Amino acid sequence: MSQFAQKHLLDIERLCLIDVKEILDRADVFVAQNSSSFRKSAQLAGKTVVNLFYEPSTRTRTSFELAAKRLGADVINVSVDSSSVKKGESLSDTIATINAMQVDAIVIRHKENGVPQFIAPLVKGAVLNAGDGSNEHPTQALLDAYVMRQRKGKLEGLRVVICGDIEHSRVARSNINLLKKFGVDVRLVAPSCFYPRDVDKLGVPVFETMEQGIENADVVMMLRIQHERLAEGEFAMSLKEYHDRFGLNHAKLSKAKPDVMVMHPGPFNRNVEVTSAVIDDPKHSVVLEQVEAGVGVRMACLDLLIGTG
Ligand code: NCD
Repeated sequence: MSQFAQKHLLDIERLCLIDVKEILDRADVFVAQNSSSFRKSAQLAGKTVVNLFYEPSTRTRTSFELAAKRLGADVINVSVDSSSVKKGESLSDTIATINAMQVDAIVIRHKENGVPQFIAPLVKGAVLNAGDGSNEHPTQALLDAYVMRQRKGKLEGLRVVICGDIEHSRVARSNINLLKKFGVDVRLVAPSCFYPRDVDKLGVPVFETMEQGIENADVVMMLRIQHERLAEGEFAMSLKEYHDRFGLNHAKLSKAKPDVMVMHPGPFNRNVEVTSAVIDDPKHSVVLEQVEAGVGVRMACLDLLIGTG
């Protein structure tokens, strides 16, 4: 019997450790289903899921769509570029319109922090945050945790180093929130311009060189520079200099444990935050395992929130 009592999936912050474990355990079933010869089941038959993405996305949108369809739901993708948003409709009016159509879940991505939290009380169905500004991206952190747990057996005791544009990364924030619940030794590496001013509040040690930060790591998670969220002049370094100092290559990776996992939420910029040689190295890189796990983890989230089981 499920203990899961959340109505929405808004951020990692409001999940307790038991909620996270329940999502990861349920994902095991769906990841197995996805690699079997018949990938479809009927937990969400008769339910409707709306994907409402105000920002570009390949992985997350496709993954949510597949997740809902594999559970038998009907899925509508609202393309904001060709919707009434282009005619000046407000967010509240768009949400009220979708809500009036009796949908069971809204999966939303938005460039402003706090939008999923803002719309949750306005709708009857569940709201799932697919990334809000630089705030949170809970399903990304859940799928990352899933892959770490699958590869390493457990999260407790791991050293996970997150490198790159911490300030603008919702992936970093959700991962820090999740991994701290498991007592993981989380470390950050970035140039000073990529740390938020209140970085102390994150409650994890910070480093300004890869060589120091990566030492003995079990997992190195690389982040894309979020150019779309950078203010003019905020990033005063050439991409070459950034790559030389903070790009992950095999020489820097040799400071980590021999069986270190390299993760990246994608999309990656090859030879900027990580070399092609590392991202394509099957001994370390798990980027496609992350994508694969993402579908199963999102199935688990949808099933726990709107499934009948
Ligand atoms: C991330 C995102 O959109 O926050 N990508 C993703 O969801 N897989 C990270 C990024 O865009 O760099």
